[in-house]
Amino acid sequence: MLKGFFITGTDTGVGKTVISAGLVYFLNNLGYRTGAMKPIESGCKIQRFKGLKTNQANTLIPHDGMFLKKIAGMEDSIDLITPIRFKEPLAPFAASKIEGKTINIRRIKSAFSKLSKKYELLIVEGIGGLLVPIKKNYYVLDLAKYIGLPLIVVARPSLGTLNHTMLTVNYAIKEGLQIAGIIINHNKPAENTIAEETNPDILKQISPVPIICIFPYLHNLGNKTIEKTVLQTLNMDTIKKLLYQ
Ligand SMILES: Nc1ncnc2c1ncn2[C@@H]1O[C@H](COP(=O)(O)OP(=O)(O)OP(=O)(O)O)[C@@H](O)[C@H]1O
Ligand SMILES: [Mg+2]
Repeated sequence: MLKGFFITGTDTGVGKTVISAGLVYFLNNLGYRTGAMKPIESGCKIQRFKGLKTNQANTLIPHDGMFLKKIAGMEDSIDLITPIRFKEPLAPFAASKIEGKTINIRRIKSAFSKLSKKYELLIVEGIGGLLVPIKKNYYVLDLAKYIGLPLIVVARPSLGTLNHTMLTVNYAIKEGLQIAGIIINHNKPAENTIAEETNPDILKQISPVPIICIFPYLHNLGNKTIEKTVLQTLNMDTIKKLLYQ
């Protein structure tokens, strides 16, 4: 049976892609054949191909999807890794309305099914947080339920994170999702505030799920730095246990 994690966050921009990339590298390094997916991405760049006049002249390039493809060394088409793409940096439901494109969940399911047959483990990056709407009455939470992999919740360490993290974790539990744990990610340079210093410990005391690790702020976000840091930060036994629990 397919193993892996669904990477969600307390919000957009908390570091889901950085952590997903780190996990892909870590798991590949442990010897698991690991693939990645970012099923829906908005805020894609337009690449124009000269000489073509039809709609095919414009292709949407997903930044997260391309980054994960590169880190995972995947030869699969980006249409499998990020099957749904939008130009506007909005929640999928909003972007689909503005761009006049209907989101076909079956395309995501079919891409996920193909990738799950090919890889031993998959790291699936969610979109924003759990209650980001994809369609009317269909949220990231519903996608996570379908994917069926345990969640890792990426949280920032700064003021406000206790509420955001507890809302995310407790709602996921209430909805019957399995949660592997929380990764506290320093997505900004440390401000050394009292909140930042005390939040990790408070979260450890109040959260119903474990804190997997605290990931530091990296001045250089290149692959090599992420790889080196993840080897220093993640514990092999902890991750193996979370995969097979
Ligand atoms: N550990 C880190 N060290 C340094 N910068 C970081 C780190 N984590 C996140 N960042 C910064 O925060 C930005 C957002 O991170 P990231 O793209 O991983 O967030 P995200 O949760 O995937 O966002 P989205 O919801 O758009 O997918 C990065 O471009 C980077 O500038
Ligand atoms: Mg991302």
